[in-house]
Amino acid sequence: MPINLPGRFRGRGLLLAGAASTAALILPKTRAFAANTAGQLPLILRPAPGRANILGPGQPSTDVLAYNSQISGPVLRLTQDQEFRAEIVNGLDQGTTVHWHGLRIPVAMDGVPGISQPPIPPGEKFNATYTPPDAGTFWYHPHLHTAHQMGRGLAGALIVDEAQKQPFDRELLWVLQDWQFEADGQFVPGFDTPMEAGMGGRIGDVVTINGVVPSPVAVRAGERIRLRLINACLARFMSLAFTGHDVRVLALDGQPVLTPFAPRDGRVLIGPAQRVDLLLEASGEPGQRYPVTDDFYGGSMDYQLVNLAYTAQARIPGRTASWQVTLPPNPVPKPDLSNPVRHRLTIVGGMMGSGLGNGTGGGMMGGMGMMMGDNAANQPPIWGIRDKAGLNSGMTPMFTIPLGKTVVITLDNQTAFWHPMHLHGYSFTVLSHNNVPEPQPILRDTVILQPQDQVEIAFAADNPGDWMFHCHVIQHQESGLMTVIRVA
Ligand code: C2O
Ligand code: CU
Ligand code: CU
Repeated sequence: MPINLPGRFRGRGLLLAGAASTAALILPKTRAFAANTAGQLPLILRPAPGRANILGPGQPSTDVLAYNSQISGPVLRLTQDQEFRAEIVNGLDQGTTVHWHGLRIPVAMDGVPGISQPPIPPGEKFNATYTPPDAGTFWYHPHLHTAHQMGRGLAGALIVDEAQKQPFDRELLWVLQDWQFEADGQFVPGFDTPMEAGMGGRIGDVVTINGVVPSPVAVRAGERIRLRLINACLARFMSLAFTGHDVRVLALDGQPVLTPFAPRDGRVLIGPAQRVDLLLEASGEPGQRYPVTDDFYGGSMDYQLVNLAYTAQARIPGRTASWQVTLPPNPVPKPDLSNPVRHRLTIVGGMMGSGLGNGTGGGMMGGMGMMMGDNAANQPPIWGIRDKAGLNSGMTPMFTIPLGKTVVITLDNQTAFWHPMHLHGYSFTVLSHNNVPEPQPILRDTVILQPQDQVEIAFAADNPGDWMFHCHVIQHQESGLMTVIRVA
């Protein structure tokens, strides 16, 4: 992979991962946000500049953008089928929005400037009100100047709890982010350079869990843990191995799987914007440490993310055999595959690829500026999505699906790069990967395409509106790897 990793912090994630570190925000930390709903005041979510100690004690702090002075943002805990209200107060010096990634809510609440709402100007407010239909692991982030705003820290977990308590001993939440630092602890500037955008996007040199360089996670032998993973990185894919543990996948992108399964090759693959809920049975020995490693990029880019540090306590009695648990399904309508609308979308562009070719008409540039970083707005698209009508790199709807119909979309990656493709407003079913049907129906809102991959997805178009469909390597999105699908 064409990644530039010379930074002096490159080894730091690895070295510090085993050491105790309690990184603290220099900003006053607001209370972790509890619940929200019925009869309570709306949550106030305030994105603003601040300073945070991401690199840990004794290390320089960083100028960041943070929700409520927290990196990552406050954990929002909603309850399935209960109304949520938030007041977003823009403390930034530029417009912003908040997008609730993965929630199947009305398009007016989707946080996409130009579709859902105008940008919230500096100093102004926006009221978000919606009722989450699905329980699961989701997240929130801005949808304007996203590489700049999200890349400097604006992202947080959004957990929708099932109405019934689930039978785990404990939950762990890991919001995974990576950052590219200068030697003085500031972020490397230029979040929208065409070089990064045309390649794999910005892959940083320090990976954090919940906004800090990880310290060991205490675990008691025998515990049954629901581990929620959120990849909130701009561009980094991860392939996590839980040494000494047989983890099982419970849910993908918030949606429970029918039958929990062991990840392929013992590796939990999680691309930008994806979530994985794992059953982590603490089958290790008291007093021992077990590393969690990431070898996605291989070679010198392998690193240890964190250690599971078992306490000296004896194993919880009766916790020896492996445990069967499934999460309750969400009410996602099943696609009707008897007579679907079909579309084929080809992903093109980037460096080392075929280029965009003809058809990058001026008409497609119109909507781009709004979604782009400040500099990128003046640059031609690097990426695009082609269908039979031509090339699309912007905010014009590519096609319309009649409300209530099922659509099957074949995605074809004709580029030299990996793309986590994300659809707003829906959880789609992944039907097949390179013509191999999925062994069980998998629901996702973000699906990974490797170079030359073909993936077939389907969904019942029950949520009307204009829905963005884009790559979640943010610099790819902002340089053209996006379109809009209209359901009407
Ligand atoms: Cu996380 Cu347009 O999405
Ligand atoms: Cu989204
Ligand atoms: Cu991409």
